[in-house]
Amino acid sequence: MQAPGTATPEERKLWEQLDPDRLPGHVAIIMDGNGRWACSRKLSRVKGHKAGVRAIRRAVDNVLHLGLNAITIYAFSTENWGRPDFEVSVLMTLLRQFVRIERDRLMEKNVRLRVLGDLSRLPAPVRSAVEQIIEDTSGNTRLDFNIAINYGGRDEILRAVRSLVSRGLRPEEVTEAALAGELYTRGQSDPDLLIRTSGELRISNFLLWQLAYTELYFTDVYWPDFDTGEMLTALINYQQRTRRFGGVDGD
Ligand code: FPP
Repeated sequence: MQAPGTATPEERKLWEQLDPDRLPGHVAIIMDGNGRWACSRKLSRVKGHKAGVRAIRRAVDNVLHLGLNAITIYAFSTENWGRPDFEVSVLMTLLRQFVRIERDRLMEKNVRLRVLGDLSRLPAPVRSAVEQIIEDTSGNTRLDFNIAINYGGRDEILRAVRSLVSRGLRPEEVTEAALAGELYTRGQSDPDLLIRTSGELRISNFLLWQLAYTELYFTDVYWPDFDTGEMLTALINYQQRTRRFGGVDGD
């Protein structure tokens, strides 16, 4: 695959290994390790999260160059409210700044930003900034950029089930398609590849329904260090897999 003009010689070699016909359509990422990245440099956790935001920008630029259809990042889980108040407040501020700063670039690049999760618990200024960018970018078509905020996979499934029950569906009407149609991701394809950084080998309540046949890729690299070379290495690894979706050769 053709490397962008800005690629380093090392990155160029990786770009050239990629088969453009076997790229995932949708990549999901559990961005873990901001705190450890900061700690290992004797920096505050805030600096780690700020470096994490730079890594998000880089990842979006890369998926745009790759021509993928969707990227989903796990920014804030339903469990993250349990972090110290100061850290929750920093994450909320970063989120608000991010959507404000990114708006023009997302419009220019034709990216649609969506949120997976319940925005009602967010502080009002953060919520309105996020709702504004969702509305502004809603007509964009090149890339779906999903940010999971106040998101939990079990919570998402429970909400979907409650919605089906409240609509009075009969048992035989409760199909996979009916349930998927009630999830935050309705209308979108499931992730082909899930990447988790920082060496943790868990799903952590992320996209429990949607990850049924997703290929999983774990790396020890902390999220702020997940650069273009790391992204390309994950994609090359993905291209070496045989996907069977539960077919005759196993699952
Ligand atoms: C894990 O690091 C990462 C998060 C809590 C979420 C990622 C958040 C950002 C990159 C910044 C805000 C997001 C946006 C969209 C502006 P950790 O703190 O759990 O790291 P640790 O496990 O090393 O402590």
